Amino acid sequence: MKLTDSEILKALPALGVELVAGASLAERTSLGIGGTTDLLLIRRHSALPELISLLRNAGVAYRFIGGGTNVLVRDGELPWVVLHLARQQPEVRLEGNFAYIDAAADLGRTVTFCAKHDLGGMEGLIGVPGTIGGALRMNAGAYGTQIGSYVREVELYRAADARIETLRGNAINFEYRHTSFAPDDIMLAVKLELPSKPFREILNGIRICNEKRRASQPLNQKSAGCIFKNPPGGSAGRMIDELGLKGFSVGDARVSDRHANFFVNAGHASSADMLALIGTVRDRVRSAYGVDLENEVILWTQ
Ligand code: EPU
Repeated sequence: MKLTDSEILKALPALGVELVAGASLAERTSLGIGGTTDLLLIRRHSALPELISLLRNAGVAYRFIGGGTNVLVRDGELPWVVLHLARQQPEVRLEGNFAYIDAAADLGRTVTFCAKHDLGGMEGLIGVPGTIGGALRMNAGAYGTQIGSYVREVELYRAADARIETLRGNAINFEYRHTSFAPDDIMLAVKLELPSKPFREILNGIRICNEKRRASQPLNQKSAGCIFKNPPGGSAGRMIDELGLKGFSVGDARVSDRHANFFVNAGHASSADMLALIGTVRDRVRSAYGVDLENEVILWTQ
């Protein structure tokens, strides 16, 4: 979508918002799939309420993207503009066992930064790609760790109230890959409380998780991590594998040979290819196991 509303275009410089015309979402997502649209790069969190109110008043549809590591975006000219937070400096500030982290900060780099200051707990999250904001929204987890356990406060743009608010950690529900944030809330910053641990011990935990991940996940291929959530008590990856679907493809969208719940873009997969692959695998699992797999990846295909 091309942003043409002159009132909005005129307001952007004073709000510190940069317009990136015709941005490619294929270049901004880990799957490497997605069409083009105007992107608004937000440099100051405080600009969000006014920016969103301008967009709403002008009837301009918008969506927010973080690291783009857990989303499947449709192809072609997209029918909405995309908002994106610029990285802030500093991204992390430490105060005792508390870490104040900007939502645009990279999750992996943040885990390492805290480790260097003898703050641990998040070792399992080391290889999870994406931003702190995305990790919060999805309650990212791996190897027995989930980020929600450490959250003490979240600063966010609360869509329902159209303003920036701070929520206490105990007012937020963090469940398996699900949180009580509204779909159009935008994460801005978080306060985590992390346990003290010597750097060497944390580093050892990080190494173990990295090795496990390298052994079981296709890290050098374009993917959005796991496509489906695990059903209660089960494993989506194991079920898909047992059905012999590793390597099964639609166009260049392919079930990974390494981990059957990772679907990779093996070349120039279209959004429709990936969607068809997801649909076919879900149908096969439903017929064989009577289990209706729920997407873990967020679909921006409508
Ligand atoms: N398995 C197979 N074949 C496969 C893949 C897995 O038989 O192709 C078996 C494994 O041998 C194992 C079981 O299935 O016995 C579980 O596999 P794994 O340990 O790889 O974990 P997972 O349940 O598939 C979850 C998360 C991952 C996270 C890992 C490690 C979900 C949907 N997936 O995977 O998160 O990295 O545990 O903690 O919860 C993600 O969220 O995108 C993601 C990749």
